[in-house]
Amino acid sequence: MADTLTSAAAPGTETAAYAARIDHVSKAFGRPGAQQLVLDDIALDVRPGEFVCLLGASGCGKSTLLNLVAGLDEPSAGTIATPGGRPALMFQEHALFPWLTAGRNIELALRLRGVPREERRTEAERLLELVRLGGAHRKRVHELSGGMRQRVALARALAQDSQLLLMDEPFAALDAITRDVLHDELTRIWSETSLSVLFVTHNVREAVRLAQRVVLLSSRPGRINREWAIDIPQPRRIEDAAVADLSVEITEELRGEIRRHGQH
Ligand SMILES: Nc1ncnc2c1ncn2[C@@H]1O[C@H](COP(=O)(O)OP(=O)(O)O)[C@@H](O)[C@H]1O
Ligand SMILES: [Mg+2]
Repeated sequence: MADTLTSAAAPGTETAAYAARIDHVSKAFGRPGAQQLVLDDIALDVRPGEFVCLLGASGCGKSTLLNLVAGLDEPSAGTIATPGGRPALMFQEHALFPWLTAGRNIELALRLRGVPREERRTEAERLLELVRLGGAHRKRVHELSGGMRQRVALARALAQDSQLLLMDEPFAALDAITRDVLHDELTRIWSETSLSVLFVTHNVREAVRLAQRVVLLSSRPGRINREWAIDIPQPRRIEDAAVADLSVEITEELRGEIRRHGQH
């Protein structure tokens, strides 16, 4: 069970003690009488500035939960509050517009946020610098490698200027080295900003590499099984002994969980 905060301010106030509050949320799909319960009574707060990884086997409901926090779907029971406004989202597939350049993809997000036209170019360039893609403004999506596309996708998510960033397995399709570099970049950007991050993954090492807190979801239905606070100093390396040791412990727990609920 997640430890929820007791000193929560009302949603919408500046002093909210959480960036996201998932309050006893359940989600079922299907017609009445033939419903499948996917998420069961999830309670979890993401604190301002916190980096939380939601870890679980594939099919356990991670994306479903993230979509609920993003406001793309409604819970069947319980409530979700994101007092800082609409969260930014980043997926495994970059979802960039292929007919626009890297810079224009970011400028579009700035336009949707209401940034005046004359400021968009400079701001897009600043964001590209932040993800270490300075100079890629005029590159088309097909000219970029997978890692570079995810950097642009991250810059575009940051262009929304949201306090909460939701990430759904954003590096899962990348090779290990590229993923490693992007972990470094994400950790750097997170530590330079006051962003709160809710990051979904099925990769235990990735969760331990990135998070301040790892929350393990069980399967069928998804429930919070256990959580770990991680105080290994950042920047961590995925091959650090402390990261490896904790990953072994969490993997054991995840294996037990998968055995209890059948193979996927
Ligand atoms: N829109 C939907 N309608 C019906 N079932 C869904 C829908 N979205 C997800 N599911 C089901 O919910 C379960 C969890 O899916 P998902 O959240 O994508 O898992 P994960 O992201 O952990 O792999 C799966 O069994 C999936 O088939
Ligand atoms: Mg998913």
